[in-house]
Parts: sequence; C-alpha cells; structure tokens
Amino acid sequence: MAVSDIIFTKGLRREYASTAAVDGIDLAIEEGSVAALVGPNGAGKTTLLKMIAALLEPTSGLAMVAGHEVSENARAVHAAVGYLPDFFGLYEELTARQCLRYFHLAYRLPEPVDRRIEEVLELVALRDAADRPIESLSRGMRQRLGLARTLLHDPRLLLLDEPASGLDPGARRELQDLLRRLASMGKTIVVSSHILTELEDYCSHVVMLDRGRLVFSGTVAEARRRAGGGRRLRLRVAGAAGPVPALLAADPAVSEVAAAPGGWAFRFSGDEESAARLLRSLVEGGVRASSFADDSGSIADGYLKLMPKEGA
Ligand SMILES: Nc1ncnc2c1ncn2[C@@H]1O[C@H](COP(=O)(O)OP(=O)(O)O)[C@@H](O)[C@H]1O
Ligand SMILES: [Mg+2]
Repeated sequence: MAVSDIIFTKGLRREYASTAAVDGIDLAIEEGSVAALVGPNGAGKTTLLKMIAALLEPTSGLAMVAGHEVSENARAVHAAVGYLPDFFGLYEELTARQCLRYFHLAYRLPEPVDRRIEEVLELVALRDAADRPIESLSRGMRQRLGLARTLLHDPRLLLLDEPASGLDPGARRELQDLLRRLASMGKTIVVSSHILTELEDYCSHVVMLDRGRLVFSGTVAEARRRAGGGRRLRLRVAGAAGPVPALLAADPAVSEVAAAPGGWAFRFSGDEESAARLLRSLVEGGVRASSFADDSGSIADGYLKLMPKEGA
C-alpha cells in the first residue's frame, strides 16, 4: 500500500446469504483521483462503496480508508468520507437551507453553522433556491442538495453512488461541472454508474466490476489502450460516399468500419505513417475528406470488451 492511497483494499469480500456481492477485491486509489466505478446492475458497486464508507461490515478482507481500517475505526472513516447513497430521502417540507441546518446539527459539526451552510450552498449553486421548500426543487437540484449534505463536514473523499441516474442532460452537465470543481479543490472522488459514457470525460481512473469481481483498474488512457486493437479514427467526407468503403476495406490496418455522422468511423491498427498513406490513397481515389482524426470517442466500447461475456 502506498502512502498516497486514500483507498486500499485487499481481498475485500461481502456475502449476502452465502453468495458474494463483492468477491475478493484488491483496489488502490490514490488521493486526488477521480475514479469511475462502473459495472452492470448487481455488479457490487453499492456494496463496495458502503464498505469503503464504513457503513457495511466486510465479511472478510481488509479496507483502509484515509489511513484507517474500516472495521476498527469507522468513526475516523466517517469523518474523512462523504457518502451519497443511490437513494436518499429529504424532508420535503423543509427548505434547502433548513435541511442543511438539520444535518449540521445532527452530525454535531463545529460552529459556525450559518457560514458553513452558505459555503456549501454556494459550492453546489443552490443559493438562489435555498429558501424554497425541497418539494418544489427539480431532481437535479435535489441531487445537488444531497451532495451539499455530504460536503458539510468537508470530507477528503467523496463516494457518490450513481448520482447522475434519472437526471436530464442539462442536470447531468451541471453535476459534472460540480464534480470537476470539487476535484480541482483536491477532493478524491469515486463516482459509480452503470453507464460509462457519462463518466469518462472527467474521470482520471476507471474501476470496472462485474459480478463482485474487479475486471479492470487503471487510468482512462490504460482502459482505452487495453480496449485496444488500435485506435478509433473518424473520417469525414464532403459529398457522396463514392469509393470510401472499398478504399477503407482495402487497407489491412482498418477494421470495424461503421457509418458515423458525416462519414465513417473505424478501428486502425497502423502507425502515423500508414495513417498518412491511407489518407493519401483516399484523396487520390477522389474522396473529398474534410477531416481525418482520432475519434476522441469512447471507452465504452472498451468497457464492453473488458467485461466478461454473459455466461462466460
Ligand atoms: N441487502 C442485501 N441482501 C441480499 N442481497 C443483496 C443485498 N444488497 C445487495 N445484494 C445483492 O448483491 C449483489 C450486488 O448488489 P449491489 O452492490 O447493489 O450492486 P450494484 O450497486 O452494482 O447494482 C446483487 O446480486 C444484489 O442482489
Ligand atoms: Mg448500486
């Protein structure tokens, strides 16, 4: 375990009625990372996050969080961690500000209450709505209020369980901006989702779970490479399709050709020189290429590749 690891687990396991929801996980997350915890429903994400938050006892194995073993020193872990559950209730008749005041008191946090509440309201961009009853807030605002609540005690580590689920695209974007802001403040963030594409833009790390096991843990770049077999390129063309598919098919480094907006996307296993050669052959073949670039694209395909197939 490195000193810089804010999360370190070894053989971490949790059983429910003799089946393992989390089945022996070795994981290390460095302080300051923003890690995406991804996996299909039932993979064990919630169970893992709850154990790391010291809210659920492991059946066996070790979990060190912010330097404390979760079973031995749950209280110290709670002080270091802000945990946003996948479902949480709010007192609907209270205003956002009253709600935060309630939790500030319930957590017995140090004074001054009012200043801290203003700070977190500012942080989650809810100041304008602070005196509205919660029942009148949008889903995105409620989610940000939930996050404000987990930030009250200024935790170093945020564990957010599917915070974007059920949000519309605008609210998702606001949540992403907020998580970026928190990351730039130095917080370590672990954010789970069963949809990878909504995380990969702003995460530095990817942790993939499947049926209680760790399938992959590494940087986003490593995940892309592992998903590998070359990179994805995108060719945009002006005008008609013409000979493009035939020219692409003729290049041995090209595979998985698919129509994409404005042209084609494909996997390319050659180097820069052979990419230049391909482009030349396209232009000489009469293709009016308007752009030819990395399909900045998605590790979602990588994700699908790294996951074991059903029944495997
Ligand atoms: N309280 C519980 N009692 C029994 N089984 C549970 C309980 N919580 C979770 N499980 C089971 O553990 C597995 C992992 O669940 P969970 O951690 O919620 O996965 P995820 O969050 O990735 O969807 C699932 O098979 C689920 O049915
Ligand atoms: Mg879950």
